[in-house]
Amino acid sequence: MARRKIVAGNWKMNMTPSEAVKLVAELKDLVVSDSVDVVYCVPAIDIVPVVEAVKGTNVQVGAENLYIEDKGAYTGEISADMLVDAGVKYVVIGHSERREYFGETDEFLNKKVKKAIEKGLTPILCCGETLEQREMGVTMDWIRLQIKSDLAGVAAADVANLVIAYEPIWAIGTGKTATSDQAQEVCKGIRDCIAEMYDAATAEAVRIQYGGSVNAGNAAELFAKPDIDGGLVGGASLKADFGKIVNY
Ligand code: PGA
Repeated sequence: MARRKIVAGNWKMNMTPSEAVKLVAELKDLVVSDSVDVVYCVPAIDIVPVVEAVKGTNVQVGAENLYIEDKGAYTGEISADMLVDAGVKYVVIGHSERREYFGETDEFLNKKVKKAIEKGLTPILCCGETLEQREMGVTMDWIRLQIKSDLAGVAAADVANLVIAYEPIWAIGTGKTATSDQAQEVCKGIRDCIAEMYDAATAEAVRIQYGGSVNAGNAAELFAKPDIDGGLVGGASLKADFGKIVNY
């Protein structure tokens, strides 16, 4: 069965609640699609108003983070139950910005993936290499290590439902997109890794996005590749271009 494409916006730390509602209204008619899943991954404080604003549309809402415990003395954190209760369906886990600026390790991210799945959220699990790693020729070794550690102990049926985002760090927010061949090569490598860890059916089912300076001009070529099932879009998700990316 053909995998359904999924295009997700990663708003990062942008958009106040009132700006968020305005943006959803601006994009409303542009992101309509029968054939693509559309997700807005938004800052925690925007979740409630954005869930309300997308009601009755084809857009689903994702969070940018969650915590690994269910409740208690974890000042400042947000639990999976809170996200689910607010209407969130997806959660970004392991973005390179969280790995780099907030010291999130693969061991910690593995716990986040398991918590999200336990609560019925779909993880958008991010992985990606630095420019140095690419130049040293260890890209695939690094990505495989991330995938294997982040998914350790996760069942095949759950992996089949998750979304993996391949985001080369050197391409994020830099305007420097990986070529469609570079992106396809790694996305296929991730699928092969899943096949080795699980089986061919799981690898065939898991959706793998490319992220890193995706824009209205390069989305069509990237998403046409056989192992690229859509994109995780940062900067271009905050403007009308996002509609062009969804309807590439
Ligand atoms: P970008 O960000 O599209 O602005 O490069 C992508 C991401 O970090 O998910």
